[in-house]
This record gives sequence, C-alpha cells and structure tokens, in this order.
Amino acid sequence: MGLIEAYRPWLPVSDKTPVISLMEGNTPLVPAPAVAARIGRGVRVYLKVDGLNPTGSFKDRGMTMAVSKAREAGSEAVICASTGNTSAAAAAYACRGGMRAFVLIPDGYVALGKLAQALLYGAEVLAIKANFDRALAIVREVAETYPVTLVNSLNPYRLEGQKTAAFEVVDVLGDAPDWLCIPMGNAGNISAYWMGFQAYKAMGRARRLPTMKGFQASGSAPLVLGHTVEQPDTIATAIRIGNPANREKAVRVRKESGGSFDAVSDKEIIEAYRILGGEEGVFCEPASAASVAGLLKHREQVPSGATVVCVLTGNGLKDPSSAIDHSQAAFHQDLDADLATVARTMGF
Ligand code: F0G
Repeated sequence: MGLIEAYRPWLPVSDKTPVISLMEGNTPLVPAPAVAARIGRGVRVYLKVDGLNPTGSFKDRGMTMAVSKAREAGSEAVICASTGNTSAAAAAYACRGGMRAFVLIPDGYVALGKLAQALLYGAEVLAIKANFDRALAIVREVAETYPVTLVNSLNPYRLEGQKTAAFEVVDVLGDAPDWLCIPMGNAGNISAYWMGFQAYKAMGRARRLPTMKGFQASGSAPLVLGHTVEQPDTIATAIRIGNPANREKAVRVRKESGGSFDAVSDKEIIEAYRILGGEEGVFCEPASAASVAGLLKHREQVPSGATVVCVLTGNGLKDPSSAIDHSQAAFHQDLDADLATVARTMGF
C-alpha cells in the first residue's frame, strides 16, 4: 500500500483524487549502534532510511501527493527545478500519471544516477548554466505563465505527503524521538516532519514533540548564516542551495521545537558517510549523511538516554562517484588472473 492509502484520513485527498502511487513510504527505521557508540550515555540512534523509496529518496512521499492532486485538477504537465532527486521523483510519478514532466537542473551539479533516472522515466530535462536557486526562480515564472503545475516544495501537497515520514517514525517508536536530525536544502522536509509530529500530537498519537536539529553544508548554509548565499558550494550537491524556498517555515520550526540549525563541513559529511557505509552497512548519499555529521558534531548536547532519529533522505546508489572517490576500502586493481596473485593479495 502506498502512503496515501496508509494515511488517507490525515491527507487532503477525497474519493475523487486519482491516486498515483509507486507504493512509496513505509521505509525502515534502522538502529545505528556504531553512531550511538560514539555518543555513549545510553543514547539510542535510529536511521530513517528514506532512500528505500521507489525512486530512492524521500521526494516520492511528496510527489505521490503533488502529482495525484495535479491530475485531480486536470493538469497535464508538471515542472520542477532540482538538484536531482525531485526531478527523478517528478519524472517517475508524472510517467505513472500519464503526464509530461519538465525538469530544470543545474548543469554539471547533479549526481549521475539522478540524471539517469529523470531521463529513463521520460522527463524532458533542461540543464541550465546556473545553480538551483536560479532554476527555481525560472520554473516559478513558467508555472505562473504556462499550463504546467509546479511540484517543488512550494506546492503545499508536497509537504502534506512528506509529513507521513514523521507518522511512520512515531508508529514504530510509540512516541516522537527526543531529537530529529535532518539535512536542510530548501527546508521543505524539516517543515513537513514538524507538521507530521504536530498532527500526531494533536490527535494523541504522540505524547511529545521532538527537538528539531537541521543541518546544512557549511558552503551552502543560508539558514545557519541568516542570509542568502550567492555561490553555494558543497560536495553534497543535493543540498547545494543558497536561497531556501521554505526559509520562514524552517525558522518557525526551529523556534517552536526549541531546536537549532548548524553547518557541517564537507569533511564531516564524508566522515559520517563513511561511518554509515562502513560500520552500519547503510549506503546513503552525501547530503543525507549531513544529519549524522550534525548529530556527531552536537554529541555532547544529546541528553543521556535520549532517542535520536537521523533522516537519511537519499540512496547512496544515486551518486556512485562520491562513494568511489571517498571510500577507504582496499581496492586492488590490475591484478594478474591467477590463484597465487589472488591469494597473495588477500594476505595468505
Ligand atoms: N537530502 C536530499 C538527498 C535531497 O535531495 C534534498 C533536497 C534534501 C536532503 C533537502 O531537503 O530541500 O526539503 O530541505 N533536494 C532537492 C532536489 C532540492 O531538487 O532534489 P529540503
């Protein structure tokens, strides 16, 4: 069952909504003992592995809603700007809904797997010579002028769908965690999680609300700095964003939850990415590892015995070159194809 069916009473859908689904949601909450061991003091850490959605990122949660509602409204095409994952999800759901998808991406700054997805799902891909922020400004204008529906997180149905990730966390843990650590780009997802936790609390499904900890890459940290970054830069291309679309919402989440925003360096991101892959057996993309990098940076502040959830937003397979460039595993190349060479290389 997809998330619209799983959480229908909590979502703005009716009998008339054509549900366009790829069976997204219901992703695992995986314990992270190696991360927890670095904190100690009885802290429990879980990873919300949202890279196990159908197109490999949390964007599917928002896209099943946005595309279903666009279809309900009679729209025949969707458009988005994207650092990659939104374009893959928009392309896939538009394809399922029999609609056209147009995606604008920053030329040269989208991980290869994401580009491959958008192309194979049949989107029309427009790579522009600018960054994500410029691409978003253009698609907003296009959607105002032409008959295409904007499916970036400015589309309110996107956040409605994404809030179901918070429902799933509470459904598994029995309550909200003490901390929720999450990477921020446009800050749609942190806003959506907060909506979800609040809705569950209001209906008595959760007794408490989490402290929301949002993390950005230090070269692209407008929400930490409090101003737009003109030339955002980071290895985590998914969150290479200088002018977040949901800035006000995110600032409200920080205030209401008593949370905080901080920046993590590319070095810290890669370190967390390696711990996740090499010690937890969980392969996420670099942007996703920012949540764990942030938790480790703030490890002293975690209350003893606390439960922490880190959101892993995207699948590591989307960006194989980052993994190959930054893994520290033994990779013996150009070996002669004989038993003696193999055994010797193995250390026998
Ligand atoms: N993690 C990943 C893997 C992402 O792709 C994104 C955003 C984020 C985190 C940040 O989420 O924007 O809701 O704060 N990716 C967008 C895209 C921008 O186009 O795929 P946010």
